[in-house]
Amino acid sequence: MIIRTKKAIPSSEITSERHYLNRRDFVGAGAAAALGLEAARRVLMPGELLGSVPGRGVAGVQEAPRGIGRPLLRSGQEPILRNGRQAFAGITSELDEELNSYEDVTSYNNFYEFGTGKDDPIRNSGDFKPRPWTIAVSGHCSKPGNYQLEDFLKPHRMEDRVYRHRCVEAWSMVIPWRGVPLADIVRAAEPTGAARYVRFKTIVRPEEMPGQRRRILPWPYVEGLRMDEAMHPLTLMVTGVYGEDAPNQNGAPLRLIIPWKYGFKGVKSIVSMEFVEEQPLNTWQLQNSREYGFFANVNPEVSHPRWSQARERRIGRLRRIPTLPFNGYAADVQSLYAGMDPRTLY
Ligand code: MTE
Repeated sequence: MIIRTKKAIPSSEITSERHYLNRRDFVGAGAAAALGLEAARRVLMPGELLGSVPGRGVAGVQEAPRGIGRPLLRSGQEPILRNGRQAFAGITSELDEELNSYEDVTSYNNFYEFGTGKDDPIRNSGDFKPRPWTIAVSGHCSKPGNYQLEDFLKPHRMEDRVYRHRCVEAWSMVIPWRGVPLADIVRAAEPTGAARYVRFKTIVRPEEMPGQRRRILPWPYVEGLRMDEAMHPLTLMVTGVYGEDAPNQNGAPLRLIIPWKYGFKGVKSIVSMEFVEEQPLNTWQLQNSREYGFFANVNPEVSHPRWSQARERRIGRLRRIPTLPFNGYAADVQSLYAGMDPRTLY
């Protein structure tokens, strides 16, 4: 994320050569662009848009719509957990995009609690302790309480899922996440009818998080989802990447991933989950409501006030590729927003 400064492009936004030119050649970049265009055509086919099933609701993994978690899980199969980085060789996204390397995923990060530079999180998070960890569940639900991380996760089934990850700053990656569908976690808390949104908060530990010693953002970092977004089978409560526990810089031990939204919705190092009636204000809205909204759905047609969202810089590739509506997940999620003005979804 970019905080407005006198400089037009903060250094934190400039990709280091290491990340930019690490392994791709021009042929690869060209193929990527072609794939992106092909995908754009596919996602924009009106028939496919209408193919999204309204009210698909809280389908479990077994009934999950096409594309979810591909190619790590086929409908009706037990999820295959691949342990370790080497087990991901040859895996691609459902659009046949190659995965970003473990190094890309874990050394080019946004986590302002550790600083605003892309390599600040890996450099400054060594003292952060993600265990032991307690999550407070509160608000309109029948099972409030303070849960130890292990008890919180134990009842649920872990999955590996490959998702596209699109930051509002217009860079992107393809990442194999490990986690539990948030729907399973929400169901276990038994929200009552009064719960219309879920609000999540990041831990506040300035002694371990040097960025929190400065007022870069209003701490704690806060994010929220509407209940149907939280229950959507694509939404993951993430514990790992590449078949391993997530390192601190990726939001250990628990963070959200909502693949059709800009990355800032993916709140890291979560300690609080609260069921509320009112739409929560998230951190970036609090910081700059002119530039950031609640829904933050990826939309190539709605520019950020300071830059276009039409294309994205896939880390590790040379050329920009087209950004897809809802980050390529339109067929799965667009029914959630039927009748809403697309501009309000930003
Ligand atoms: N969560 C917290 N607590 N603090 C942050 O600064 N940055 C967000 C999101 N979650 C952020 C956060 C932004 S802007 C993005 S793009 C993603 O995390 C980046 O996730 P990644 O570093 O794992 O790619």
